[in-house]
Amino acid sequence: MATISAQSVQKSFDSLEVLSRLDLEIQDCEFVSILGPSGCGKTTLLRTVAGLEKATSGQILLDGQPVTGPRPDLTLVFQNFRLLPWRTVEANVGYGLRLRGVPKAEARERVQQKIDMVGLRGYEKKYPYQLSGGMQQRVGLARALAIDPKYLLMDEPFGALDAQTRELMQEELLSIWADSPKTVMFVTHSIDEAIVLSDRVVVMEAKPGRIVDDIRIPFERPRSAVDIRTDPVFAELRQHMWGLLRHEDRPVAAGGAPGE
Ligand SMILES: Nc1ncnc2c1ncn2[C@@H]1O[C@H](COP(=O)(O)OP(=O)(O)O)[C@@H](O)[C@H]1O
Ligand SMILES: [Mg+2]
Repeated sequence: MATISAQSVQKSFDSLEVLSRLDLEIQDCEFVSILGPSGCGKTTLLRTVAGLEKATSGQILLDGQPVTGPRPDLTLVFQNFRLLPWRTVEANVGYGLRLRGVPKAEARERVQQKIDMVGLRGYEKKYPYQLSGGMQQRVGLARALAIDPKYLLMDEPFGALDAQTRELMQEELLSIWADSPKTVMFVTHSIDEAIVLSDRVVVMEAKPGRIVDDIRIPFERPRSAVDIRTDPVFAELRQHMWGLLRHEDRPVAAGGAPGE
């Protein structure tokens, strides 16, 4: 089991209250997106779940156990994935396994499997600078998946990609998740991305960060992002989330990227 439970989590930096008594339950192998404007505390929430920040009050339970620090069965990935520029694709993908002391032969096998999974066979010996941005993201995704974490936390992982590559990566993630489901917390600015990928979308507001809605996404799995985008239910969900986010005091641009 891999459940996440945030119980009345409050987080302040000095006098700034960033998260205000936040409650959130995520079930085993559920894919939950966190949607909200810049500064509403999404990254802080992920870092707290990952054990990199300590809640000022309240607690996070992973599979019923209080989080006291980082743990090997949880991976947090960032927007730029932080590839090592001086290492090849296969060394980057295997990096987390090396850190965890996975035996060489097993590590080699897992690395190759994940490289195949993200469609990068043949690129094992290339360096990051020899790859396109989208390919680099796939290397990062393969690295996160190679560790095979029970908990996968992703902080705007596709935020830096152009629209087309971003949609390809969403399809990729959908199919990878269908093959090996995990408990996922996925932070995004994009309403569309949140709907396409998630079982639930949690919408947050800022100052202080709190949850304003928790929306179940009814599309069956396995999914195709293309089919979902043309479904009338998609438009309804989008409209609803849009309404929630536009209350923010910042201008909201069309295209599902409020706060940017
Ligand atoms: N280490 C820190 N020290 C002080 N303030 C911080 C720190 N981390 C985040 N904050 C503040 O907390 C608020 C929420 O930040 P963050 O969690 O990064 O929001 P989001 O990821 O939703 O954009 C912001 O006002 C930010 O400036
Ligand atoms: Mg953030």
